[in-house]
Amino acid sequence: MERLQKVIAQAGIASRRKAEELIQQGTVTVNGKVVKELGTKVSSNDKIEVSGIPVEREQPVYFLLYKPTGVISSVSDDKGRKVVTDFFPHLKERIYPIGRLDYDTSGVLLLTNDGDFANTLMHPKHEVDKVYIAKVKGIPTREQLRLLANGIKLEDGLTAPAKTKLISSDRKKNTSIIQIIIHEGRNRQVRRMFEAIGCPVLKLKREQYGIMTLHNLRPGESRELTPHEVKQLRAQSQVKSRR
Ligand code: URA
Repeated sequence: MERLQKVIAQAGIASRRKAEELIQQGTVTVNGKVVKELGTKVSSNDKIEVSGIPVEREQPVYFLLYKPTGVISSVSDDKGRKVVTDFFPHLKERIYPIGRLDYDTSGVLLLTNDGDFANTLMHPKHEVDKVYIAKVKGIPTREQLRLLANGIKLEDGLTAPAKTKLISSDRKKNTSIIQIIIHEGRNRQVRRMFEAIGCPVLKLKREQYGIMTLHNLRPGESRELTPHEVKQLRAQSQVKSRR
């Protein structure tokens, strides 16, 4: 038995809070009867509808994909390009990516059909750390890296402070490898941050998302998360939001 608002949120219809509002507004029925009580528990046999539309319920599933470059972080593409769900051809659950990696970025991408879980991890207030390794043009000075660490002004506002580490540099090729840790998830954020300090990104890989790493996976490979990892990811984001 699960709480009604959780089932609605898991189905990806609304956040948990919004689901509570929908229930209180009388738009939710269970087996044909309007239910306004927030504590109501439902089983997998109960038929739930929101505004007359049946809630499709699937077992929640959670995957980690080592996304290769040249793949769209989406479930379909109108130009027929490869999408991340193409790596799960036999899965019957309808999963989707939690956030996005650019077409030309590789690395850790989580996928699920649990809307509640996806919303929790993606909400900026939950501050899940993402670790990236960037190969950039040029060799940034300490001062330039400090700009990233302090937060840098982009066209959509100041970024939250980032942690950066110069891993190596190649004077001949005039390139560097830098680790950068951020918890925001704005569009092309890492690329724009490095662009802003005059060191454009040549290659970008996400090595870690919260506790999840690429350990033992090759590009294009995936694995299911363990129940413990799902719990840890949830707990990690909730602790951060209470800070
Ligand atoms: N930042 C970027 O610029 N690209 C990504 O794919 C992820 C973070």
